[in-house]
Amino acid sequence: MIAYKSQRVAYPYFVVALLLFGLQVVMGIWLAINYAFTLPQALVNVFPFATAREFHTNLLVLWMLLGFMGGTYFMVPEESRSELFSTKLAYLQLIILVGTGVTALIGFLFGWTQGKPLLEIPLPLDWLVVVGALIFLFNVGMTFIKAKNWTMIQGTLFAGLASLALLYLFGMPFYKNLTIDWYYWWWVIHLWVEGAWELITAAIMAWILMRITGVPRKTVEKWLYVEIGLFLFTGIVGTGHHYYWIGAPRYWLWFGGIFSALEPLPIILMVWDTMKHVKHHEGEVTNQVVWLMAIGGSIYHLFGAGVMGFAHTLPQINYYTHGSQITVSHGHLAFFGAYALLNLTVFYYAFPKLKGVENFKSSIGKAAFWITSISMLFLGLAFGVAGVIQSYLGRVLGIGYMNTQAHMQLWFKIAIVCGIVFLIGVIMFIVDLLSIKSGGKKNITVAAS
Ligand code: HEM
Ligand code: HEM
Ligand SMILES: [Fe+2]
Repeated sequence: MIAYKSQRVAYPYFVVALLLFGLQVVMGIWLAINYAFTLPQALVNVFPFATAREFHTNLLVLWMLLGFMGGTYFMVPEESRSELFSTKLAYLQLIILVGTGVTALIGFLFGWTQGKPLLEIPLPLDWLVVVGALIFLFNVGMTFIKAKNWTMIQGTLFAGLASLALLYLFGMPFYKNLTIDWYYWWWVIHLWVEGAWELITAAIMAWILMRITGVPRKTVEKWLYVEIGLFLFTGIVGTGHHYYWIGAPRYWLWFGGIFSALEPLPIILMVWDTMKHVKHHEGEVTNQVVWLMAIGGSIYHLFGAGVMGFAHTLPQINYYTHGSQITVSHGHLAFFGAYALLNLTVFYYAFPKLKGVENFKSSIGKAAFWITSISMLFLGLAFGVAGVIQSYLGRVLGIGYMNTQAHMQLWFKIAIVCGIVFLIGVIMFIVDLLSIKSGGKKNITVAAS
């Protein structure tokens, strides 16, 4: 049951996000095939690795941002106890963002790209993204202002969303000096995933935990203070773990490495606190799939981002592993653990409510959670082994790039297998969620006041 009519705008956001997730994964498998086999040149000419990689990573960013935005639109009315400021603006924003995304993908096919990984879309399209982001912030902000019902969750969420938009601006210009270009590239990439997105995740997680376990607001909200403190402290100073290769002063070597290691702590502590609550109060968890994903996601987040991030964050190690498949391994485990699972947590919480289904149970969802989580673990491991081979042969022994690649190919073949299993899990998620049948016409419980 949803409490406010305007929460419905979240649905199309979620559906588009899910479908793009599927497409992203197909592209991932295609990338691994490119590494594992030598493909006919004619094929490479029309769809080169770089283009496929642009598809894979930009689809990733797009679907996750749409998921966050849908999640925000779903959560804001209930949290602020008022309908959204404008549902029309929310739909307009979706059209602008998806339209920009599709244009960007077609553009990539014709070489229309700015060339920075994950932020390849060219400047004119960047401006459209800015318009979409401003509409979003305006809509959410106005809802809060009109409702006059501020909570810590709203504050954290809004801080995350505003910094997400602000940081995007640093990736827009192209600096002719490539060192400077990469410097600001990290301001977007690092401060997004280790700053802004963490705030958004913490806020959404706090809200969902409260809803499904009945844990008191103050228990989860106290971790949001910690999260904001860490964002300002470890997130921003942690940017230094990307400064080894950009000519920044030496003190960043240690600052960056040590501070960044603390980042994922607040969320895991929040979940642990909630678990304690559930145990002590013998509380009833209302939606088991969501609970599984929330716990699983927090642990995976800690592992993929915290542990695997720490594994190469110290300068003595990063010296050898920078930009290798070790980085790719961490990128996959962190993105999946932290943000794919957060999005799925939100989808599994919101879909049944949007469809008016009570007591939702999903064995397919649980199975898909385990299939994707385990296959991603092995995928990360395969990339990791490839990365150790690459760092050792290429960087320690100084063997040539392509000769080193030849020794890594077996691990990309293994990655293909893991990828196919992962894709099966993703298809299960998509089918499971999209096939939830409407539980009746009247699926709004409380009329908006
Ligand atoms: C959820 C949070 C995180 C996500 C999604 C994430 C994702 C990524 C991605 C995709 C890259 C590769 C960027 C590229 O070169 O293309 C990267 C690089 C890196 N990450 Fe993370 N990360 C997260 C948190 C962390 C944390 C907490 C640490 C440290 C403890 C860390 C340490 C690093 C380091 C050192 C690099 C640079 C690797 C290199 O020099 O090639 N990350 N991260
Ligand atoms: C079927 C599963 C997948 C396969 C086989 C796969 C494969 C790949 C490959 C081969 C690359 C290129 C690495 C390079 O340039 O050397 C890549 C990049 C990337 N993929 Fe995937 N991928 C899959 C799923 C995913 C998922 C589910 C996510 C996120 C949740 C993801 C996030 C990324 C990121 C962030 C990068 C850029 C990494 C970096 O710059 O270091 N991939 N993927
Ligand atoms: Fe970072």
